[in-house]
Amino acid sequence: MAITRIAYGVMNGKDVHAFIIENSQGAKAQIIEKGATLEKLLVKDKNGDFIDVLVGHDTLDGHINRSDYQGVVVGQYANRIKGGKFTIDGTEYNVTCNEKGITCLHGGGEYSSAHWNGEIISDNAVKFTYLSPDGAEGFPGNVNVSATYTFTDDNRLIIEYKAVSDKKTVINLTNHAYFNLNGYDSGDVLDHTLKINADRYTPIDEVSIPTGELPSVTGTPFDFTVSKTIGRDIDADHPQIKNGMGFDHNFCIADYDGKLKEIAVATGDRSGITMTVSTDLPGVQLYTGNFLDGSVVGKGGKPITKRSAFCLETQVYPDSPNHPEWHKCIYDADEEYHTVTEFAFSL
Ligand code: BGC
Repeated sequence: MAITRIAYGVMNGKDVHAFIIENSQGAKAQIIEKGATLEKLLVKDKNGDFIDVLVGHDTLDGHINRSDYQGVVVGQYANRIKGGKFTIDGTEYNVTCNEKGITCLHGGGEYSSAHWNGEIISDNAVKFTYLSPDGAEGFPGNVNVSATYTFTDDNRLIIEYKAVSDKKTVINLTNHAYFNLNGYDSGDVLDHTLKINADRYTPIDEVSIPTGELPSVTGTPFDFTVSKTIGRDIDADHPQIKNGMGFDHNFCIADYDGKLKEIAVATGDRSGITMTVSTDLPGVQLYTGNFLDGSVVGKGGKPITKRSAFCLETQVYPDSPNHPEWHKCIYDADEEYHTVTEFAFSL
């Protein structure tokens, strides 16, 4: 195992570093201080070649100007909050409505645009820290947050999130990596297979806010309990597929008990690379890159095209601050938020 720290660029007068964690097999994870972004993940395919399975950017300008949140850590509240409003102990908070002026998406973008300080803490782990000031994007509390990336010899990328606020606040952190297990430059992901251990999902309205229902996936395009291709039902004649223009929904993990467990398995049809996702969180957003349209240039100067990647964003259900009947997302002052998500690669 070895970690290299290199200069990557300068953002708002601050040096941005990249950290490359290489394991004994030669697989590599590269994370940069802007947004604590997971930028590259080089793993071996069935031919023995290392391929980068992350769609996104490979320049600081690309990360800063053209992000669809590729690889970043999103917070303070990942995914959406209806109307950008929620109430804690009788106080209503109004947070940035950065989506169509009516919805808060990915915390308004603060965490993912921020400079996180990277520190090598072992021969295979880098800890990124950021202090989110009280009131940033309207969220209460000075929040000390960290995301620690560990990459193991058996190709497991573990992300451990911790946060502590000095005021009662909402917290929901995730990583927004866009995966293409055939390689970042190899077309759409429709022939990848995917299994998600979720028996219910959160349907959305026309502006992607959960309706509040938690219907069964059985008999719908959202049934990934048995492995199927991502493309099989992506254009099905179903109102929810229309609302998301494909899959852009939160799946409710079956038998959720707060413990770290396997929740999804995806395989690249051409590379043979399998990714197994584990988390201790209750939900996962499957987003199939429906809104990518080729207008943004990514790695190698190539356009990032529709459905060229998929995301599995582990999270509490979207808009949970307005659904106290769902899972905990409000933390007291000094109460620690702590979750773990793991992406394991095999052939
Ligand atoms: C959302 C999508 C959005 C994407 C990029 C996902 O988490 O669910 O609707 O387009 O992030 O912002």
